[in-house]
Parts: sequence; structure tokens; C-alpha cells
Amino acid sequence: MAGFAGRVGIGLVAVALGCGTAAAQGWQHLGKVQRVEKLKDGVELSAGSAKVRITAFRDGIFRVRVTPNGTFPKDFSWAVIESPQPPALQIEESQKEIRITAGSVIATAQKSPLLVDFKDAAGNVLLADESSLPMGWNGQRIHVWKKMPSDENYYGLGDKAGPMNRRNRSFTNWNTDEFGWQESSDPLYKTIPFFIGLRKGTAYGVFFDNTYRSTFDFGKESADYFSFGAEGGELNYYFMAGPEPKKIVEEYTALTGRSPLPPFWSLGYQQCRYSYYPESRAREIVRTFRDKKIPADTIYFDIDYQQDYAPFTINREYFPTFEKMISDFRSQGFHTILITDLHIKKNTDHGYAPYDSGIRNDVFVKNPDGSAYVGKVWPGDSVFPDFTLARTRDWWGSLYKDFAGMGVAGFWNDMNEPSIFFRADKTMPLDTVHRLDDGTARDHRAIHNVFGMENVRATYEGLRKLQPEERPFVLTRAAYSGAQRYAATWTGDNSSTWNHLAMSTPMLLSLGISGFPLIGDDIGGFAGSPTADLLTRWFEVGALNPIYRDHTAKGTADQEPWVHGPEHEAIRKKFIELRYQLMPYLYTGVEEATRTGLPLMRPVFLEYPQASEFYGDNRDFLFGRDLFVAPVTTEMVDAEEISLPPGVWYDYWTSEKHAYKEKINLHPRLEEMPLYVRAGAILPMQPVVQYTGETPNGPLQLRVYPGNDCRGSLYQDDGHTFAYQKGEVLRVNYSCKVSAGSVTVTSSVDKRAFQPWWRSAHVTIYGAAVAPTEVRVDDGVIHDWHYDGQAHAVTLTVPDAVKNWSVRLTF
Ligand code: GLC
Repeated sequence: MAGFAGRVGIGLVAVALGCGTAAAQGWQHLGKVQRVEKLKDGVELSAGSAKVRITAFRDGIFRVRVTPNGTFPKDFSWAVIESPQPPALQIEESQKEIRITAGSVIATAQKSPLLVDFKDAAGNVLLADESSLPMGWNGQRIHVWKKMPSDENYYGLGDKAGPMNRRNRSFTNWNTDEFGWQESSDPLYKTIPFFIGLRKGTAYGVFFDNTYRSTFDFGKESADYFSFGAEGGELNYYFMAGPEPKKIVEEYTALTGRSPLPPFWSLGYQQCRYSYYPESRAREIVRTFRDKKIPADTIYFDIDYQQDYAPFTINREYFPTFEKMISDFRSQGFHTILITDLHIKKNTDHGYAPYDSGIRNDVFVKNPDGSAYVGKVWPGDSVFPDFTLARTRDWWGSLYKDFAGMGVAGFWNDMNEPSIFFRADKTMPLDTVHRLDDGTARDHRAIHNVFGMENVRATYEGLRKLQPEERPFVLTRAAYSGAQRYAATWTGDNSSTWNHLAMSTPMLLSLGISGFPLIGDDIGGFAGSPTADLLTRWFEVGALNPIYRDHTAKGTADQEPWVHGPEHEAIRKKFIELRYQLMPYLYTGVEEATRTGLPLMRPVFLEYPQASEFYGDNRDFLFGRDLFVAPVTTEMVDAEEISLPPGVWYDYWTSEKHAYKEKINLHPRLEEMPLYVRAGAILPMQPVVQYTGETPNGPLQLRVYPGNDCRGSLYQDDGHTFAYQKGEVLRVNYSCKVSAGSVTVTSSVDKRAFQPWWRSAHVTIYGAAVAPTEVRVDDGVIHDWHYDGQAHAVTLTVPDAVKNWSVRLTF
């Protein structure tokens, strides 16, 4: 798009003269407000043929809808699950403008031309339409232009590559199978039309709920404004006021939903490749993990386990005892995940149930002439379930019956952009017909970007019905906002290069703030084969990614932790073990994400919005609130410079203390990944296990790092059922107090309706420059404690720890 100046002139004139459609003339923009109608939750403004509704969705959230022709379409969203709860409103009208005050946010509509802005209670403008560019339309296209302060930064949009700060770039959302993507590749697999604007510590959010091909331009076209729009559908967006970035993430995930609690085992180490076969090879992989005592929870089967790549079949030549293999793996503590792509092989007259029953039930996407659309994917000619229909989703869900019965633990829905081979556009034609439950139909333009989400919805809901007591685990590649309600996701087909290792962090951070807490990348890279050092470094940072899955393409070198010899194996094992030791902290963080939407893997600005030096940090991240990770993502090694977030931080490995703004220069050896703990953190940890289902041998481990705002928490439950929803959980809060001459650590049980594996707690209190003179547990003096003068740490055991207790060190 170019030539805005001309367009504005035409637009305003067109509106003023009341001209007709704009397709031929370019853009039409909103003109003068001619009528104001007060609604119970806001206002409806008429300007020429167009109407604009500005409503308060709930405290802190406004919604804007525009219809160029004066008729609003039926209000419908694939993403939004929250009902509006408009707060008390005050609407004031003057000659120039209409002001709606709702809670702490004020929306103002200037009347001529119609321009919208949002302010905080103090009158500071948070977001405003660009004065020369009121909202506009051009045929089916719709667009919004906003003023762009010179120091504003933009984050979000899900799995976009390149720097986390989106400023100065433009993006397209059109779910695309992009094998071997690079930082310049766009669009990618997902459509998350949501971003956070951040400036001087103050944030706001915008969710543009439109499923058509959409674009976001954060100042590439102009230095004065940014803009977003779509090729069709409704101009419909939500404004979230913040002002904290955390609050925006909470609001956005309240609107579009949060990830349900995943099964505990899915947080363990996951081993994948394209593909493990035959059966003997898969068995060998599982055995090797146990023999080498490298912890792991999951093995994946990629497309080669299937007969002719037909979903829901088993290649019996490769897997003669598939069912037994799965149960044998179970008894070794391994969960099995199967790929089940959405394309159904067009396999007529072969008794292939998914095809036959699909035809019988009329569930496939159609051509305009009413025939089933056929496209080529892995199985050759394939048909595609019409996931926008509830009855299709039910049918799809029921296809999992046999696998679920065999004890398969999770499912991987890939290629669901949907990806189609041998077509330049890589997907189905735009005129294919998708039916909706209300009896209407939409073409692929409207449905493409939600197709993958409705695919995993069908899988998730199907599994819920088949196994009401088990938490499903579903992995998706494509998504629209809200897909986090059904599936975890990964960043698709990356490559085995240092560059890709470095690109992974900003991408995962962006996904995290875009509503997806359960995310990972292909550890080691999918395309190509990593060098030994690269794979080792990838294992290091991956240990602190929410999903930890090693995966690689067909025809590449082996990529399991033990390849490249014993030295590399030992380092990789050390980091996998670190992940298992941190599991209580990790699971507590994931449970938090299910309630608040706050991801485990956080950009520093999420916790420290005032620390603007982190606005462009693409290397470091916080893992939960209390761990700061500075991974090594280059072959280097020149010195790695580390700047810590505000506060005091302890080196996780040496327990040395560091201050904010202190310049740290490290030369991390291959086995070292810089990792810091917030002074004020209490980390619940556990002894190493070989898989999450193994009962740890030893007490709960609590690492206490005294400092300001000293607290930690622990959440535990049975790890796989829904009993937690009935309150069968353990919740403990820990805190510590530092005063002159003493440190007190307190445990306070919030809920004790689940019996954990541990009884006692092994407590380590760091930051003790000298040995204490007295150690008390509750009120009794104990003598059985240890002081480590090098680590400046005191260790002791609280024998009966699943209760309230306190420990006091006196110096
Ligand atoms: C796609 C997936 C990849 C998978 C392959 C075969 O490329 O992104 O992860 O291994 O298909 O199923």
C-alpha cells in the first residue's frame, strides 16, 4: 500500500459527497459523525453510510466495531470466549467529541472526522487514530491507522521470526507451512492478531479479531503511524488498557482463553524424530534412555508408523506389536505421542474407516460445485474434514477411540494450516466451501486461519469425551488466537544452525505473551544436522523452555542426547536433569499460567516494564518470576556480557551475588549456561528422577535466596486427572524475612487435599556470609545443620514439612 496522502483526500471527499463503494477509487475513510446513539454499553455513531460502535467490554477493555454499509454482521468470534461485563459508564457529548468513561479508561470519538482515542484516567493518550487517516475500507478490505510515538515498541503476533520488538517491520497473517523458515520468512504457521504496545513502562494491548488474511505494519511504511487491517471480515478490535504488560496478557487470555493444565508427563523431556521405525528402533531408543539414565518421558511417532501415511492406521510391517510396544513403554515410564494429521487419505473401497465414515457423514470440505475438495499431502490424494462444523469435530474426535484404548498418551496435529502439496499457495483454493453450524457457509478466505485451531479443538474435545478422567495432550502447528485452549505448540520446521538457536528465544517469548504458555522448538533443529556444540547448547537452553522436545527431519543425522560422544552426552544429561530437578517449580509455574495466562517463559519487560534496556533483548528471558536465563546461542566464545534485571541476583551455579547494572563478563565453557536466581526467590525442587511418574527418592528441596519480596509457592496434584478441579491439590506458600542478625523462612499450607510424594523438606538458605549461631525449626533449636562457607549456604531438614513451619537462622 502506498500513497496515503492521496487516499485520504479521496476518502474524505467520497464520504462527504456520500459516494458509493470505494473499490475503484481506493480507500474510503470515516467522515463526519452525523448521529450519536447511546447504547447501554457505549455508543453507536453514524457517519455517512458507515456505523461505528465503541463499547466498554469490561473494566479496562474497549471494543470498536465498524461497518461500512451500516449493518453490523452477527456478532461471532472463534477466539473470544469471555462475555462482556460492561462497567458503569459515563457518556458525555460536546460539539466536538463524545467521551465514554468506563472505569479507569476513557474512549473519545472526535466527530469530524471520526477519530477514536483511548486515554488513562489522568488523560494520557494511550492509543489514538492517526489524524489524517480515519478508519477506512476499500472493497472488502478494512484498515486502521494509529499514531506511532517515536519511542513505542511492539510485541506479540505469535510465532513471527526475527527480533521480538516488531517495530519498523510489517507482517502478514496467513497460516503457512514454511519449511526451513528464516528470520525474513512471513507469514508463518499461526495467526495471532494481538500485540502489546510498550512505552516508558506503560503498556496497552490490541486484539484485532479477524480471521481473514491480515497485516500489521509497525512503522515500515511510515515513521508517523502504524496500522493493521484485513482483506475481508469485520473491522473489530479490542483495546486493553494495562498499564502493566502483565495485565495485558491476563486480559488477553481472559478474552481468548487459557491453556488447560497439561498432564505432568508432558513437561518432561520429549524425544522425537521423523520417524522412529521400525519397532525395534523405537524400542532401542527407549531402552537407551533408561540404560544411560538420561531422564525422558515421551517418545513420538511421526508419519512413518502409518500405513501409506493414512491417518489412524498402523503399518504392521514396521510395527508388528504396536499395542504391546505402547504398553511396554508405559511400564518403562514412557508416554507415546502419535502424529495424526488432518488430511484423510482418499482411499476408496479399501475399508479405510476414516474415509468411508467421513463420506457417509458428509464431513469433508467441498468445492463450489458440491464435490469433496481433494488435495495432495503425505498420503497422496486426500480430503479435509470441515472442522467448522460441530458434527465434523465430533466425528473426528471419535477417530481417536482405538489409539486412546491402546494407551497412546498424546496426539500431534501437524500440517493443519492446512498444508497442501504441489500448489503455489501451499493450501486449498480460496473458493472451497466451509459450512457452519448455523446453516451458512464461508469460503476459505474466512476460515483458513482458524482451520488448524478447529482441528485441535476437535481432537481435544474428542479426547475429553473418550477419556473424561485424563488430561489430553495435543500438539498443533497452526493456530488462531484461542488455540491455546486446546493445544501446546512449537515453532515448526526450523534449521540446525546457530542462527536458528538464537532466533528461537524471541519467537518463544512472543508466543508466550500471545497467549501460548506451552511452547517449544525442535531442539537441535529440524532441517539439517547440528554440530556437536550446537546440539549441546540447544539442550541447555531447551531445558528451560516450557516444552522440551528434540526433533529432526528425515534423512538427517541422529539427534538423541547421546550422539557425539560421552562428553557431550554428560553435559546434555546434566541439563535434562536440571529440568527434572526444577519440575516442582516448573509445574507450579504452568499451573499459574492456566489461571492467569502469564507464560512460564517471560520477556524481562513483562516483570520489569520500567527497565527499558531490556525492550530489545532477544537473548535473555525469565523462566517463571525467579530465574533469569542468559543462554549461549553463538559458537563464539568471546565474552558473554550479561546485564541482570533490577534487584539482586544469585548465580544459580556458584551462589555468588550480583547487582542490577553490574557488568558481568563470562566465558561460559561448553558445559555452562549462565543462570541466575532472584534474591527473594524460594525455589521448590526435587531429586532427579528418570521420568516424571517415578517417585523421587528423597525430600522436597527448597532453595531459599533471601532478598526483597521473598516468596515462593508450590502446587502439586496427581498430574494427570481432573481431580484438581475438585480441589484435590496441595498449595503451599513460602516466604522469608531478613532482618539484622536473622533470616526466617516460613511455610504456610494453603490447601492440603493432595498427598505429595515427600514428607520432609531439605532447605538450603543462601546468602549467609557466616555460619549461624543458632538454627531453630519451629520453636526448637536444632543441631543437625550444615554450613557451606564457599556457597554461603545453610542446609537443614524439616522432618514433617507438609504443614506450616518456620525456620530461623540467627547470626
Ligand atoms: C512437518 C512437521 C515436522 C514433521 C513432518 C513429517 O514438516 O513440521 O515436524 O516431522 O512434517 O510429519
